[in-house]
Formats: sequence, C-alpha cells, structure tokens
Amino acid sequence: MKKKIAIITGASSGIGQEFAFQLDEIMHELDEIWLIARRRERLEELAKVLETGCRTIAMDVTEERDMELFRNILATEDVSVRMLVNCAGYGLMGRFDGISIEEQLGMLEVNCKALTRMTYECIPYMCKNGRIIQLASSAAFVPQKNFAVYAAAKSYVLSFSRALREELRERDIWVTAVCPGPVETEFFDIAEKYASTLAVKKLTMVPPQKVVRDALRDSYHKKALSICSLPMKAFGILTKTVPHGWILSVMGLLK
Ligand SMILES: NC(=O)c1ccc[n+]([C@@H]2O[C@H](COP(=O)([O-])OP(=O)(O)OC[C@H]3O[C@@H](n4cnc5c(N)ncnc54)[C@H](OP(=O)(O)O)[C@@H]3O)[C@@H](O)[C@H]2O)c1
Repeated sequence: MKKKIAIITGASSGIGQEFAFQLDEIMHELDEIWLIARRRERLEELAKVLETGCRTIAMDVTEERDMELFRNILATEDVSVRMLVNCAGYGLMGRFDGISIEEQLGMLEVNCKALTRMTYECIPYMCKNGRIIQLASSAAFVPQKNFAVYAAAKSYVLSFSRALREELRERDIWVTAVCPGPVETEFFDIAEKYASTLAVKKLTMVPPQKVVRDALRDSYHKKALSICSLPMKAFGILTKTVPHGWILSVMGLLK
C-alpha cells in the first residue's frame, strides 16, 4: 500500500510550521508529514510534538544537489502525495538599488524557481482529489514600491498557480494560491533588514493560525484563492477595479 503523505516546505517556522500543526489535527488519513526546511533542529523539534509520523528533510530548496536528493527520495519511496504546501520563501523591503543583487535574485530563487521545481517533482506522485497550496501574498495584487522584486515574485506565484489549477483540474488535483497581508511570523526579521514595513500595513497583521485555517478550508472547497482578512479582500477588489497607477500613487504617500 502506498504511504499517504503531505509535504510542507518552510516547515521550520511561521506559516509552514502552522500548516504542520493543523494538518496533524485534521488529516487523520496521513501516514506521514514530510517537513522541509534548512534548520534541521527546528524540524526535529516539530516532528517530536506531532502525532502523525514525520519525515524531516533538512535541505535548501534552491540547491540543485538537495533537490536531486529529494527527487530520489520521492522516486524510491512508494508514496501518494495527498497535499503539497509550498511555504518556503522570504522577502526584503527597501529600494531595489539599495539591496545586493544576490539577495534580490535569492528572492526569485526561493519564491519562484524552487516553488516551481518542488511542484514539478511532486505532481507525478499526487493522488486524485489531491491538493497543492502555494503561498503567494497580497503583494501579488499590485506592484509595490520598496518591495519590487518580492511583489513581482508573488505575482508569478499567483499567476502560475491559477494556470496550473486549470491544467490539473482534469486530474482532479486542486491548486489554491494563498494571498495573506502581513502575518505575525519571523518573516519580518528578514524582511526589515534594510527598511521597515509601512505602519498602516502592520495594522492589518493577522496570526498564522487564521491564515492556515482559512487556507485549509478554501483548499478543501477547491477554491482558487484564499485571502484571509477583510482588509486584504477589500484590497484585492480595489486592485481589480482601480487603475494600478492611482493605487501606486496613494501607496507612495503612506508612512
Ligand atoms: N509573514 C508574512 O507577512 C507573509 C505574508 C504573505 C506571504 N507570506 C509568505 O508565506 C511564506 C511563509 O512565510 P512565513 O511568514 O512563515 O515566514 P518565516 O517564518 O520566515 O518562514 C519561512 C520559511 O521558509 C524556509 N526557507 C527559506 N528559505 C529557504 C530555503 N532556501 N530552503 C528551504 N527552506 C527555506 C525557512 O526555513 P529555514 O530558514 O529553516 O530554511 C522557514 O521555514 C513565504 O513564502 C512568504 O513569502 C508571508
């Protein structure tokens, strides 16, 4: 019998870790949850407190060699992937010309390239009625001054997820893009290395528990998008109805 598994990248912290807690509570059919991130100790600590059996895979999702190893693990284990959650990611705020090119390209490597690769490697092992959850962001809705590369990267995730959803529909695999506004996680320890978040954005901060609860509910209902808070839902509608140039001008005035 194939092992029924869920795979979570970015499981060592924040939203990914919370997915592990909530899947452990609600997906009783799982034989294992595969936890992926670079910080091995964090993954092992997490595995200890979950009731579901876990496999911890300490790897850098941007490293070709690590990804090859992961591909081999998938190929040798007899698994049926019930759910893939791509949470590994980071963002850096600040002017484009004020952040090193390595860090800018690093954002594309993790948020776009690694997410795409991970999705590609897992799809052959996904079962009917399987789910893919991709962490995009409300930053995907409109270009963002001083968050230019991150917002563009998340627009990629959103666009990719929506197109992939249409391709996988016939295989009964359902893709949901999660688009939260600010979430209370370690994300900001990295994001604010060069510049701080707009104070007005911080007013809309939500806990990861809510983001994940809503994402799992929306994924269960096969929804294309999961936007967890009212202000972000309103922001999403605004970006579909008002010219982006106007929104950028107003956002430029905010502190
Ligand atoms: N927090 C927010 O406000 C917010 C809002 C919208 C969207 N998001 C998105 O949500 C996702 C999760 O963010 P979070 O808030 O949970 O941030 P977080 O607490 O900083 O978690 C980021 C996770 O990504 C992993 N990661 C980063 N680079 C990696 C790499 N090269 N290889 C493997 N794992 C890597 C980290 O693990 P290791 O360091 O152990 O590798 C960590 O587990 C990200 O895609 C983020 O862009 C966050």
